[in-house]
Amino acid sequence: MTVIALAGGLGAPGVTTAAMALLMTWPMPPEHRVVLAEADPDGGAILPGALQGTLDNSHGLRNLAVASRQGQLGEAFWRQLVDVTDAGSRDRLVLPGLYDPVHASAMEPVWRPLAKLFTGIEAHGHDVIVDLGRRGAFGSSAVLAQSADVVLVVARSTLRSLQSAQVRVEALREVLGGTTELGMLLVDEGPFSKEEVRKHLGISVTAVLPWRPKEAAVLSDGAEQPRRFESGELMRSARTAAVRIQELVAVRRTRLVPPAGPSGGRVVTGAR
Ligand SMILES: Nc1ncnc2c1ncn2[C@@H]1O[C@H](COP(=O)(O)OP(=O)(O)OP(=O)(O)O)[C@@H](O)[C@H]1O
Ligand SMILES: [Mg+2]
Repeated sequence: MTVIALAGGLGAPGVTTAAMALLMTWPMPPEHRVVLAEADPDGGAILPGALQGTLDNSHGLRNLAVASRQGQLGEAFWRQLVDVTDAGSRDRLVLPGLYDPVHASAMEPVWRPLAKLFTGIEAHGHDVIVDLGRRGAFGSSAVLAQSADVVLVVARSTLRSLQSAQVRVEALREVLGGTTELGMLLVDEGPFSKEEVRKHLGISVTAVLPWRPKEAAVLSDGAEQPRRFESGELMRSARTAAVRIQELVAVRRTRLVPPAGPSGGRVVTGAR
């Protein structure tokens, strides 16, 4: 019962790829669903990428702007989801992003009700992974980050990527105000270790994904699967990352829930 948001930075560090990897490996009890919402204001990449243009642009975020104006966001949301499972089991779903970033301004009044919908749909046994793109954690869509359980900044372990991430981590601390868990998802392309990242950026690395261009291209561009893709290093690490994220959320929720008893308890937020 989780909303996690992934935020990027300069140089396309791999947010959408990581989000897809988490979607496909997210551990779920029976009857549970996980939705990847492509809320990147710069436009979505999953329809032309992972799904190889097999679907037209008739589904997606853009339709929610219209539905929201008509007061029908809740109903419309479910109709916009695309099943990405081979078996058609509809338990791993994508809300495709904007196909034209010019539509981002029409989304401005929709981000808040959408964020509310994401946190509310857990009542129906859904988790949500939000792809915020490189700038979606700021501006009008920042509300999606603020209402998430966990925000993960995705960065490659290169100097260039980490420098871009450092600025964003500092800005995100202000945006989130300490109530949302903030961590990093490190894509292991460069020389910096997670210990170095923690030391220099002051942020915990929640999980590390290996640098695997061929496996990543399956998720980002719908490339042909290399042999043993499902059990390959990228998907295995994504599975570990998903478990780790779920543990982080569980710990956070334990902290937020007041202890039972006649006098209730103090709600503690922002503790690390
Ligand atoms: N773990 C990885 N190993 C190797 N290549 C990767 C990995 N993750 C992503 N890539 C590659 O990096 C490129 C960019 O990935 P992706 O589109 O996911 O980035 P992004 O952060 O979502 O970018 P944007 O900001 O443009 O939305 C793609 O070619 C993808 O295959
Ligand atoms: Mg992306």
